[in-house]
Parts: sequence; structure tokens; C-alpha cells
Amino acid sequence: MKGLKMTRFLTLGTALAALAAPALAEERRPTGELIAMNCGTCHGTYGRAFNDSMPPLAGMNPDKLVNAMIAFRDDTRPGTIMSRLAPAFTEEDYRAIAEYFAAQEPIPYPPEESE
Ligand code: HEC
Repeated sequence: MKGLKMTRFLTLGTALAALAAPALAEERRPTGELIAMNCGTCHGTYGRAFNDSMPPLAGMNPDKLVNAMIAFRDDTRPGTIMSRLAPAFTEEDYRAIAEYFAAQEPIPYPPEESE
């Protein structure tokens, strides 16, 4: 009898945990800033340009960035690297990344005063 009650308790607990899981996953979604750290290696920290050959992402119109990612993913825009990288993220990620970069101030690199 005692064992049966314990089983029921565990079953209820498992069911509640399953119900809570999607809410928890949403709550713990990485921020755009965190996802965008995947881009800094090539596009510069905070998406700022670090040389002439790499397009800066800082200050980019968010729709333009999302559309570019979709085009790279769908192979409608050619890319050496981006067409391999874009499929690793969801469209929700593209939007979060885009909002983050749009809020960053672009700066030329090297900064003008050091030239
Ligand atoms: C390994 C280097 C590398 C990484 C990491 C990288 N990119 Fe790129 N990105 C490139 C290159 C190179 C191009 C030029 C297109 C091509 O050849 O793929 C580019 C182009 C772009 C463009 C087009 C810019 C324009 O002006 O039209 C966007 C948008 C972009 N990347 C977004 C991202 C985002 C968002 C991330 C992070 C999820 C990212 N990139 C990570 C190398 C990289």
C-alpha cells in the first residue's frame, strides 16, 4: 500500500515536470547577446568591423540581417561560410541576434585616431 502511494506520487511528479518543461525552456532561452557571441570571431566583437573585408553587423537593420540569414540558409544567396553557419540557428535566433546587433554602435577599425 505504501509502495503504491509512492508510485502515484512519482507519476504525478513526472507529469507536472513534463508540463513545466516548455515554460522553463522558454524562460531559459539564450539572449541575442549570447547567441551573437558566435559571430564575433569573424565580424568583430559586438559586430563591429575590424577590417575592410568583413561586413560589420553592428547597426545593421534587423530585417536585413534576418533576411540575409534566411537567404544563406536556403542557398538563395551564395556564401563561403555563412551558408554553412546559418542552418545552425533558428529563425527565432536570427531575430534575437538581429535585435542585439541593431542596438550596437558601429565603429570603424582601426579607429580613425590611430591611423
Ligand atoms: C567564420 C567566420 C564567420 C562567422 C563565425 C560568422 N560570419 Fe557572417 N560572414 C562571414 C563571411 C565570410 C561573410 C561573407 C559571405 C560569405 O562568404 O559567407 C559573412 C557575411 C554575413 C552577413 C552579410 C552581411 C552583409 O553586409 O550583407 C551577415 C548578415 C552575417 N554574416 C551574419 C552573421 C551572423 C549573425 C553570425 C553569427 C551567428 C555570423 N555571421 C558569423 C563570416 C562569418
